[in-house]
Formats: sequence, C-alpha cells, structure tokens
Amino acid sequence: MDLGLKDKVAIVTASSKGLGKACALGLAREGAKVVICARDENDLQKAKNEIERNADNEIMAVRADVTKYEDIKNLVKSTVEKFGTVHILVTNAGGPPSGYFENFSDDDWNNAFNLNFMSTVRLIREVLPYMKTQRWGRIINITSVTVRQPIDNLILSNSIRMSVVGLAKTLALQLAKYNILINNVAPGYTLTDRVKYVIEQRASESGKTFDEIKSELAKDIPLGRLAEPEELANLVVFLASERASYITGTTIPVDGGWIKGVY
Ligand SMILES: NC(=O)c1ccc[n+]([C@@H]2O[C@H](COP(=O)([O-])OP(=O)(O)OC[C@H]3O[C@@H](n4cnc5c(N)ncnc54)[C@H](OP(=O)(O)O)[C@@H]3O)[C@@H](O)[C@H]2O)c1
Repeated sequence: MDLGLKDKVAIVTASSKGLGKACALGLAREGAKVVICARDENDLQKAKNEIERNADNEIMAVRADVTKYEDIKNLVKSTVEKFGTVHILVTNAGGPPSGYFENFSDDDWNNAFNLNFMSTVRLIREVLPYMKTQRWGRIINITSVTVRQPIDNLILSNSIRMSVVGLAKTLALQLAKYNILINNVAPGYTLTDRVKYVIEQRASESGKTFDEIKSELAKDIPLGRLAEPEELANLVVFLASERASYITGTTIPVDGGWIKGVY
C-alpha cells in the first residue's frame, strides 16, 4: 500500500525516545520530512542520528520542552522556516507521576494539565493555520489506555488524558470541513525506556528478575506480552497517511486486548 507520505512534513513531539521516536522513525521511513523534539540535547542528537541512519532521510531536531509555550512556538516556526508548512502533528509528552488522590496538590494537578493537555492545545493552535490553508492535516494525539480503563495508581493520567479525548472529538467535528482529521491512539504497556526503568525498579525492590516482573505485567494482556514501540507507530503512521482519509474523531487502543470494555 502506498501511504502517500512522501515529502509530507511531520512534527512528532517528545520524540528522542520511546513511542515518539518510534513514530518519527516510522514516518521518516515512509518518506516524510520529520521534525523531532525533546528537552535533552544529547538524547535528541542521538535520536536524530539513529533515525537518519535507519530511514535514509533528513530529520530536523529542535530542542523544546512542550510545557513551555515559547518552545512550542519556536518548534512550529522552525519547522515552517525549513520545510514550508506542517501536514502532520503527532502530540506526545512525558507522563504525569503515578500516585493516588491523596498524594497530589493543586500544583501537581496544574503541572499534569500543562504537560498533557495544554501542550496538545498549544501545538494544535500553532499548526492549524497551515493545515487550514492547505486544506489537509492529520493530528494524532498519543494518550493511553487509561482513557478507556483507569489504572488504579494513575489518577493524574486517568483524569487529564480524558480532556484530550474531549478536545480531539470536538475539533474533529469542527475541522472536518478543512480536511483536517484528528484522532487519538491509546497505547497499552509498551517496552520503552520508561517502562524498562519501571520494571528494573520493581525488580530491585522485590528481589525478582526483570523477566519475572515483565511476565507479571503481561499476565492481564490477552496477547501475553508487552508491545514494542513500533506496534504503536504502525497505527500512527497509517492514521497520518493519505489512506486514513475517512477516519476522524476516534480513539484507537493498541493494547494487546488489555481493555476489557466493548467501547
Ligand atoms: N510506554 C508505555 O507503556 C505507555 C503506555 C501508555 C501511555 N504512555 C505515555 O506515552 C508517553 C511517552 O511514553 P514513553 O514510554 O515513550 O516514554 P519515554 O521512553 O520515557 O520517552 C519520553 C520522551 O518524551 C520526552 N519528553 C518528556 N517530557 C518532555 C517535555 N516536557 N517536552 C519535550 N519532550 C519531553 C523525553 O525526552 P526528554 O526527557 O529529553 O525531554 C523522551 O524523548 C508518556 O506520556 C507516557 O505516559 C506510555
């Protein structure tokens, strides 16, 4: 299938590692011009080199913290200066801390809102003028399975990410007339650096091995294993493509069957 992504301009945020990096690589392999960002310069440069090597395509890396509006504005401005426009936006950020209701102050709630919701709002605001003018756009928000089935100790993620779903659904209805499609993807347990770190922590706390903890996480997943980052990226690349031209306003899990509800 020709995805029609050659020379499309894509911004993927929070993309020096994990899910974001896998999405950037997937889009670059299909011929898109990809802009990546993260806060740590070294990791960003390493990711740029790795993606260029594996995709045989030029990548632009812009240091940016998605909690800072000035950085977001600079990211979009730099993209347009280099590549002329933006066709595809993949919004991603770090995750909020784990914990229960009693653990969090107003500041914690505001930080999580800024990290996972306001970053999405601001990124979309900055790219929309270009997408509207060219009457073509794809926006894909990386959320989490927590938008469909809460995880007990992730109250910040469970709560704040739901607002991204509401935002995307509302915008999908309003932006369809410009041929701008907006969808969410909801990853389940995926073996990124972050999850490997969590597994290592739990292993050292419990005296169990890395593989034992990984198997414990996998026991509630019908496919019996954690995902690889590429398995989320494959969906993101498809949703970004010409071939996904009639899909908007949806939230699609990539969870190996973990969500137990029907919708
Ligand atoms: N992996 C999973 O199983 C899973 C499941 C559901 C949802 N998620 C969510 O998916 C997102 C990505 O997770 P991941 O597992 O891919 O994490 P990861 O492996 O730790 O990668 C996170 C990436 O985001 C960047 N980043 C973090 N905060 C940022 C900020 N404020 N501004 C710009 N870049 C930032 C990091 O680089 P710097 O630190 O250098 O900025 C890094 O490149 C998170 O929100 C996570 O909660 C993950």
